[in-house]
Amino acid sequence: MPRRESQTVLDVVTHIQRRLDPTLAYRFACRVGMCGSCAMTVNGTPRWTCRTHVDKVAKDGVLRLGPLANMPVVRDLVADMREFFDKWARAKGQFTPTRTRADGFARVEPATRERREADAGIECIGCGVCYAACDVVKWNRDYLGPAALNRAWTLVNDVRDGGQAARLRAVSGDAGCHSCHTMMSCTEHCPKELSPTRSIAGLKRATFAGVFDAEGE
Ligand code: SF4
Ligand code: SF4
Ligand code: FES
Repeated sequence: MPRRESQTVLDVVTHIQRRLDPTLAYRFACRVGMCGSCAMTVNGTPRWTCRTHVDKVAKDGVLRLGPLANMPVVRDLVADMREFFDKWARAKGQFTPTRTRADGFARVEPATRERREADAGIECIGCGVCYAACDVVKWNRDYLGPAALNRAWTLVNDVRDGGQAARLRAVSGDAGCHSCHTMMSCTEHCPKELSPTRSIAGLKRATFAGVFDAEGE
């Protein structure tokens, strides 16, 4: 592989596909750390390949690449993310509106606790790196995983959302937040520097507090 200054792992994969093996399957879109679709396993660690310099991870000159772990493989470096996104739906990761388009904008003050909690996790782009890093997902394929639970916590703190009772019920089951072993791999690997571990701790507190009982459901 010809080496270049500031060469990224995605540059290497692209070179292989364009010059050496046109059948190689892989995903990317933005190349600048916006979309998350270039995530792969690089020398055993899940990473965004467009934001990973070869110099940083191949100190002995060897790069071993694979698809993201904890997901079925479509082909070569492409993981099947359906299970991952299905879990977002299972964790009720969709916004449940309480207003109609005829209503005015909701005012949510930036300084409130709920707004700060919601903002802390909102930047997740669904890349799957945390999910691939989580050992509990590896042991229990039903476990909802860090990204879906982070999304659920973001919505639990969204004061405009009307689906809290169903959401808290969805994340408190056997494969939900209480299965997290707080090992922090998700938080250590998230390229957006989010903390799904912290979000999951919030869900554990909320489900223990019986918030959904207080809603009378
Ligand atoms: S903190 Fe929980 S969700 Fe995150 S990697 Fe560890 S077990 Fe998985
Ligand atoms: S929490 Fe971070 S690592 Fe996990 S899917 Fe979102 S952006 Fe990716
Ligand atoms: S290609 Fe979009 S984040 Fe890497």
